[in-house]
Amino acid sequence: MNIQTKSLSKIYGEGEAAVTALQPCSFEISGGERVAIVGASGSGKSTLLHLLGALDTPSGGSILFDGKRLPAQEEALSRFRLSNIGFIFQEYNLLPELTALENIVLPSLLRGKKKDTPYLNRLIERLDLSDRLSHFPSQLSGGQQQRVAIVRALTNKPQLLLCDEPTGSLDTEHSRQVMELLEELQAEYGFTLIVVTHNPDIAEQFPRILTLSDGMVGGDLT
Ligand SMILES: Nc1ncnc2c1ncn2[C@@H]1O[C@H](COP(=O)(O)OP(=O)(O)O)[C@@H](O)[C@H]1O
Ligand SMILES: [Mg+2]
Repeated sequence: MNIQTKSLSKIYGEGEAAVTALQPCSFEISGGERVAIVGASGSGKSTLLHLLGALDTPSGGSILFDGKRLPAQEEALSRFRLSNIGFIFQEYNLLPELTALENIVLPSLLRGKKKDTPYLNRLIERLDLSDRLSHFPSQLSGGQQQRVAIVRALTNKPQLLLCDEPTGSLDTEHSRQVMELLEELQAEYGFTLIVVTHNPDIAEQFPRILTLSDGMVGGDLT
């Protein structure tokens, strides 16, 4: 999926309490591109990612997804998100009362579409989760939980995968595994991959790096 921002900005709060989290920025990310977003803590990385994922509304400017604006109506917006965008978060965000498998199939249930079982089975096997499907998140290691979150994010075959510090809670070895998997899956399925990280070793693996400082999208290191 191609993404184009035009003077996209975000201000939280109002008046005295207003915080400019993202200064107006305009850039384009092509379908199938791999982009890292780097910047210090508080520089606006999560804000930008949430806007790109239509999880939050901009204060100014706009985003075009494959040349189109987002639907204004909440239900249509939610359907757009479920069908096109996958999210991975630092803290995995699995639902604790659901098993790994239930977490994985949830997006297809929410979307009201039949799940693609052979596709999911391949992912589950590829991510080495076959014997963990009936486990609850609390019974899984951090690396396993993040792998469940990866399958869940890909359940509906999104064209855009957004990851907010996906290895921020993992040790070096599991971080490496997760990043390798994301790269391999991207190569295989061709989705646009955007990863927020403050780990320079991870950012270096990406052909394009967007830097954020104090809410300003700066040097586009391609
Ligand atoms: N919901 C919010 N309400 C008010 N301020 C916020 C909110 N979310 C983030 N901020 C502020 O916006 C700025 C950017 O935050 P964030 O996008 O989370 O940065 P990063 O992900 O790079 O650490 C920070 O100053 C943060 O305190
Ligand atoms: Mg953040």
